[in-house]
Amino acid sequence: MATSIIKLISTDHERVKEHFGGLEQVPGAKLGDWFCELRELLVRHEVAEEMTLYPTFRSEVAAGDKIADARIAEQQAAESKLAELEKMDPQSPSFLAELMQLRPAVLEHAKKEEADVLSRLGQTLTPERLEDLGRTYEVAMSSAPTHPHPHAPDTPPGNLILGPVAAIADRMRDAIKKAS
Ligand SMILES: [Fe+2]
Repeated sequence: MATSIIKLISTDHERVKEHFGGLEQVPGAKLGDWFCELRELLVRHEVAEEMTLYPTFRSEVAAGDKIADARIAEQQAAESKLAELEKMDPQSPSFLAELMQLRPAVLEHAKKEEADVLSRLGQTLTPERLEDLGRTYEVAMSSAPTHPHPHAPDTPPGNLILGPVAAIADRMRDAIKKAS
């Protein structure tokens, strides 16, 4: 049985929240790995939403365009921040400071997405359509490479570089196009 896209996205948001919740406890030497996991979680989720959730939301929900534009602008701001962070040294104090700033922005965005986007979609689409969209969302999520590059711990700052945000997004888009 398929799962509603609302449930899938809400579960992803919980995972992001949990991951961010552990930020203060991450030892300095592990911050690069912690960041790689965060980037993977966020980029896959956001690209999958932009490929599946938002096109339907725009066409089916009243005033969907305006709400979608605002939420996607927040996602793009987060992606730019991730792209900046991946060029930084995870051992530098500013790296942690930047992450601390990214956290409230991402969590606030997720809250708005649940309140503005998911709730409206739930009121508009039938349970069957929400499940169909859930299936597409899962295809999108699974098309993202989980490890675009092997770790290269001896190549500073390569210990955290798995490949640029844009490259992950491009590969996902290609895979989704092929699957559809
Ligand atoms: Fe989201």
